[in-house]
Amino acid sequence: MTLKVAVLPGDGIGPEVMEEALKVLDRVSAKFNVEFEYREALIGGSAIDAKGNAFPDETKEVCDWADAILFGAVGGPKWESLPPEKQPERAALLPIRKRYELFANLRPAIVFPALIESSPLKSEVLGDKGFDILVVRELTGGIYFGQPKGIFEENGQKKGVDTLVYYDWEIRRIAKVAFDAAMKRDKRLASIDKANVLTSMVLWRQVVEEVAKDYPEVELRHLYVDNASMQLIRDPHQFDVILAGNMFGDILSDEAAMLTGSIGMLPSASLGESKGLYEPVHGSAPDIAGKGIANPCAMILSVAMMLKYSFNLKDAAEAVESAVSQVLDEGLRTADLYRGKKGERKVTTKEMGDAIAERI
Ligand code: IPM
Ligand code: MG
Repeated sequence: MTLKVAVLPGDGIGPEVMEEALKVLDRVSAKFNVEFEYREALIGGSAIDAKGNAFPDETKEVCDWADAILFGAVGGPKWESLPPEKQPERAALLPIRKRYELFANLRPAIVFPALIESSPLKSEVLGDKGFDILVVRELTGGIYFGQPKGIFEENGQKKGVDTLVYYDWEIRRIAKVAFDAAMKRDKRLASIDKANVLTSMVLWRQVVEEVAKDYPEVELRHLYVDNASMQLIRDPHQFDVILAGNMFGDILSDEAAMLTGSIGMLPSASLGESKGLYEPVHGSAPDIAGKGIANPCAMILSVAMMLKYSFNLKDAAEAVESAVSQVLDEGLRTADLYRGKKGERKVTTKEMGDAIAERI
């Protein structure tokens, strides 16, 4: 059987880190005797330049065909002066999530043992074991997509409107994903809302409570988002799985990512009923693009998530994860991770990718 993968490198450092990810995937293919067929397509700014559209029809066809989508990063200063609705984020990222109803966004925030010192948290707070949090973010609803949305005229004044709306079924399906994930982990779930102010979040809390009845083993807490953002910094160990709506999940996942100290290490998966999209948490980093210094680990770990969630190849996924861990233990560091400490060796994007591929 051939597994079909859409490859969308995108902009900035996207193409560089994607090259290393495919190198690793080729290695997985040889070692685990599975065959991948890749089709590459343009997305984001590079698609605007070539086709006048951030998410062209050819790219949609490639994604329709694929079982899984590998996504690099989109955006950059070159396209920032375009009208908002034409910019890569709005015109590529949000539509691709919606087209495949990729409602479940999994964002692990893990401190690798070798990188514990990169965390901005004091060692008294962090302890010597780091932390391992999974943010489960709702990705196709809430205030990002609710209608009405727009800038409207009213009595000669302009008003900007976004609508925060959640249907019970949207909350239920994302809550199930989070509870299922918790069952495979430490069985602790923190559901984030703002039920003291927002009515949609009153429903959020009710539905999460209903879903919880099917998961008696999972310890559930509800936290207001403001308190949650504070608790994350005060003591990240209190969290195992964090469940949040689209906007709160956006914000808290960046906070959790920063606490690991190395955003260049964090992958993500966006899952729906039919296919998954896998992308690094970092952006296109135009300032370092083309220099060969970007950290390919997040893209490579996104490949590991694809192997696990889209293709159920758990051994292969673990092999990729432990290869990454191993090269870090050996002291290999891309520029973003390099601290000049004893035992560290500064490497390029390509050297990092080669080393990881070799250890699979
Ligand atoms: C993310 C990003 C996007 C989001 C932006 C670029 C539209 O911040 O994936 O977290 O807000 O979802
Ligand atoms: Mg974000």
